[in-house]
Amino acid sequence: MSSELRVEQLRKVFTTTTAQGSALKAAVDDVSFTIAAGEIVVLLGPSGCGKTTTLRCVAGLEHPTSGKIVIGGTVYTDPQAGVLVPPRNRNLGMVFQSYAVWPHMTVRQNVAYPLKSRGVKGAAQDNAVRDALDLVELSAYADRPVTQLSGGQMQRVALARSMVYQPQILLLDEPLSNLDAQLRLRLRDDLRRIIKRVGLTALYVTHDQTEAVVLGDRLGVMRDGKLLQLDTPSAIYNSPADLFVAGFTGATNVIEGRLVSRDGAFGVVAVASGEHVMARMGHDIAPGTPVRVALRPDNVALNPAGEGRNRFLGGVTSRHYQGTQTVYQVSVLGTAIEALEVGSAARYDENSQVTVGLPAEACWVYPADR
Ligand SMILES: Nc1ncnc2c1ncn2[C@@H]1O[C@H](COP(=O)(O)OP(=O)(O)O)[C@@H](O)[C@H]1O
Ligand SMILES: [Mg+2]
Repeated sequence: MSSELRVEQLRKVFTTTTAQGSALKAAVDDVSFTIAAGEIVVLLGPSGCGKTTTLRCVAGLEHPTSGKIVIGGTVYTDPQAGVLVPPRNRNLGMVFQSYAVWPHMTVRQNVAYPLKSRGVKGAAQDNAVRDALDLVELSAYADRPVTQLSGGQMQRVALARSMVYQPQILLLDEPLSNLDAQLRLRLRDDLRRIIKRVGLTALYVTHDQTEAVVLGDRLGVMRDGKLLQLDTPSAIYNSPADLFVAGFTGATNVIEGRLVSRDGAFGVVAVASGEHVMARMGHDIAPGTPVRVALRPDNVALNPAGEGRNRFLGGVTSRHYQGTQTVYQVSVLGTAIEALEVGSAARYDENSQVTVGLPAEACWVYPADR
């Protein structure tokens, strides 16, 4: 039943009226992507970047300014051609942040409701409800009023209810945001397992990186209405396409410099102190260009063993012990960076001198002007 989803050059412009007059703002700006049947794609980005608007356009709840939504080869949205299939005729499942369950019904009645409204009756309805409740492990709660359930259980009811009629695509908008931390972790793992077991095509949006990595077959990072990079979690984490994706996925150290030379996949960057850092080049940048080098705190090695390139003298300026890891502020290369040491032993004192190792393959060069 699950289908491919194609989003083509989607654009949604909102008009906002203020005291100064009205302004146009592209909430979604030329976004294109395809989700294969049975694939889970997560759109990740900060609040306001256009995730919900994209999802609502797919659902038919929002009418885009331009672009196309194609599900299973059928065009559902194409404003230029006057095509806008209403939400109820798209056969999509939706799960939102708020527990959208009917409070006056039992668990079973909630899950049976979408079948009833589609005219599915008798044994077919009973079997589908039973399977859906089994899937979310709520069979034992079938006859409880839904209001007696915990937040996590209510979200499972919402999930069962959105899957029971075998939708073409499942849309999920920050479904874990209202749950407490522990429950969020459990349901996060369960969600992927459940969606994969049914083989549903899913579009999931969140601002939470770890959620995105655990859930998605592929991740799309959004900013200001634009889709910056769509790739596997490991490609996003190991070769971020630009400085924003690098920073948003944890490469929070940024070292300013100027590209001196390039040799294949690596370049030499002169930094504030005059020292040279070797770093990976993902972009075509001419020598002489101002650049920024991004790197994760956990890739900064303090007093690394053996010989190696990219070793610099530095000093620990502060240390924050966090039990299972320690975060150090290190002064090096004429700037300040953060280093993360994993383990419960904090080995370096404030004001101590350290050799700082920056693995060249974990240092990424980006043009400074983008
Ligand atoms: N109905 C609307 N009218 C005007 N602006 C809107 C409307 N819905 C969303 N926006 C704006 O569009 C942008 C993207 O919003 P949204 O898609 O909700 O972002 P996200 O889900 O990533 O937090 C924001 O700047 C938001 O203020
Ligand atoms: Mg949102």
